[in-house]
Amino acid sequence: MISIKTREEINAMRESSRVVKETLEYIGSIIRAGMSTKEVDAKAHEFILKCGAIPSCLGYCGYPAATCISVDDMVVHGIPSDDIIIKEGQIVSVDLCAYANGFHGDGARTFAIGQVSPEKEKLVKVTKECFFEALKVVGDGVSLGTIGNVIQRHAEANGFSAVRKLVGHGIGREMHEDPNVPNFGVRGTGIRLKTGMVICIEPMINAGTHQVDFLSDGWSVVTRDGKPSAHYENTVAITEDGVEILTL
Ligand code: MF3
Ligand code: CO
Repeated sequence: MISIKTREEINAMRESSRVVKETLEYIGSIIRAGMSTKEVDAKAHEFILKCGAIPSCLGYCGYPAATCISVDDMVVHGIPSDDIIIKEGQIVSVDLCAYANGFHGDGARTFAIGQVSPEKEKLVKVTKECFFEALKVVGDGVSLGTIGNVIQRHAEANGFSAVRKLVGHGIGREMHEDPNVPNFGVRGTGIRLKTGMVICIEPMINAGTHQVDFLSDGWSVVTRDGKPSAHYENTVAITEDGVEILTL
């Protein structure tokens, strides 16, 4: 069932999304080589609490941290660890959710640490572009297949691939709501967006094959070929006045 939010509910969703946006900006300003991903997680956790919100990921299906931090060939859901030290030349995806006012917000950014390879630099740029290409077509009446198609085509036109095993999602009183929002698809197929829907559009783009593997920790997802992957996500509302990115 896809929940349709009223204007008041969408207004209430601004708070948790604003916390997500500000936390991601804060992490972008402090993340650097030498930090462990656990330290980055602790900073984000502290910041979310200071904003008066709660990190939605912590305890979600037993997930042990406030954020997901995925380095290089890790696609998503990397568990922050004291043993993972961020190094110059890596790309680091930070994905986090906040809960406030009765609603969740969800967003992700991929940060380049110092000087990275031209391939990684392009991957980070194209992944963000995939989101904004999708945003251009988002609106009342647009099918999810069209959104996925736009993301897939932009990734593939640049020699990359869009992950298929993991998808975006609706969001609201629950962190994951219907519908699934794939990053691939056929134009004009699937359900159509309607005013009042709030969705997370989150391209996960791989430099090589779209194939991924799930690690035995039960969370971490890595590229099958070991090539890098990037992630960019925002919470997007379809309102009576148009499309609004709540986490930007
Ligand atoms: N933001 C992530 C997503 O939408 C949340 C992952 S669930 C977690 O997939 F428990 F791993 F945090
Ligand atoms: Co999400």
